[in-house]
Amino acid sequence: MSKQRVLSGVQPTGNLHLGNYLGAIRNWVEEQNNYDNFFCVVDLHAITVPHDPLVLASNTLTTAALYLACGIDLECSTIFVQSHVSAHSELAWLLNCVTPLNWLERMIQFKEKAVKQGENVSVGLLDYPVLMAADILLYDADQVPVGEDQKQHLELTRDIAIRINDRFGKKKEPVLKLPKPLIRKQGARVMSLTDGTKKMSKSDPSELSRISLLDSPEEIKRKIKKCKTDPVKGLEFDNPERPECHNLLSLYQLLANKTKEEVQAECTEMGWGQFKPLLVDTTVAALEPIQSKYNELMAERTYLESVLEKGATQANEVAINTLNRVKKSLGFLSI
Ligand code: AMP
Ligand code: TRP
Repeated sequence: MSKQRVLSGVQPTGNLHLGNYLGAIRNWVEEQNNYDNFFCVVDLHAITVPHDPLVLASNTLTTAALYLACGIDLECSTIFVQSHVSAHSELAWLLNCVTPLNWLERMIQFKEKAVKQGENVSVGLLDYPVLMAADILLYDADQVPVGEDQKQHLELTRDIAIRINDRFGKKKEPVLKLPKPLIRKQGARVMSLTDGTKKMSKSDPSELSRISLLDSPEEIKRKIKKCKTDPVKGLEFDNPERPECHNLLSLYQLLANKTKEEVQAECTEMGWGQFKPLLVDTTVAALEPIQSKYNELMAERTYLESVLEKGATQANEVAINTLNRVKKSLGFLSI
């Protein structure tokens, strides 16, 4: 039996942080041998909010290098850039025409981001989830490993596919495959270091709120030293009154590769003064191999470009087939 297909992506907006790593990329890496994988740098999504043209290309390359540095293996995975495969934009248009406006107006991420944009909110931001649906459906993906915040977008993707199949498919021959979200319990929602009730995010104005994968040991130390804690004695998971405590223990657990029980036993009696240096050392040690691999890769720009060129060719082969299938089912004239 052939392997199931996985597709996922991250936006190339600034440095990736521990939320991206623990919620998404690390899970891609751990599971990649079991699947046929496509990992996309979603640069078209990155322009749905105002962006700087001077850094888009370099952020795109950086993100691709980080995929490799985190352990994506080209033997079983294809890495490519979304804008290099034009079928993404084209399928998004076709899907737009069957997607009711009110489905998009309901999206939590849109509502949150739209508030920040005020009057300048773009049609692209509203349409963001349809482009994401196109990303996924083009590859007939079975599984989509993402963090918790993307669950609603995955449900929308399924709803759009169902609509296309109902309207344009035959009973035994659906046009599009229905994907499933793959959301792990652990790490699916890494919270901000400055507020344990908000998720860690690239768009938070405070650098102190997140640890980037490329932060130096000194920066990591400074951020953890300054992070929000509480005055309660002892450390514990799952106390809703202590969101920061839960988040920091969870980070330690994931980065040290320990079980919850092990961390509980180790840390129950600790105070912050003892725990913070432990978290600093663990974070630095977990990121060190990623950073040294990243530095090696960035010194080999031609190699990176060749990976993306090959990736675009492989992705395009799959995507164009699906696009043609959809166009045929919608009744377009072919020549
Ligand atoms: P983005 O940074 O929005 O492009 O997100 C890329 C991937 O990282 C998606 O799968 C997100 O669900 C995941 N992600 C982003 N922020 C977090 C977070 N704070 N905790 C867990 N996963 C996250
Ligand atoms: N919307 C995702 C995020 O912000 C990024 C994304 C775009 C994505 N296309 C995708 C994730 C396809 C998974 C599959 O996190």
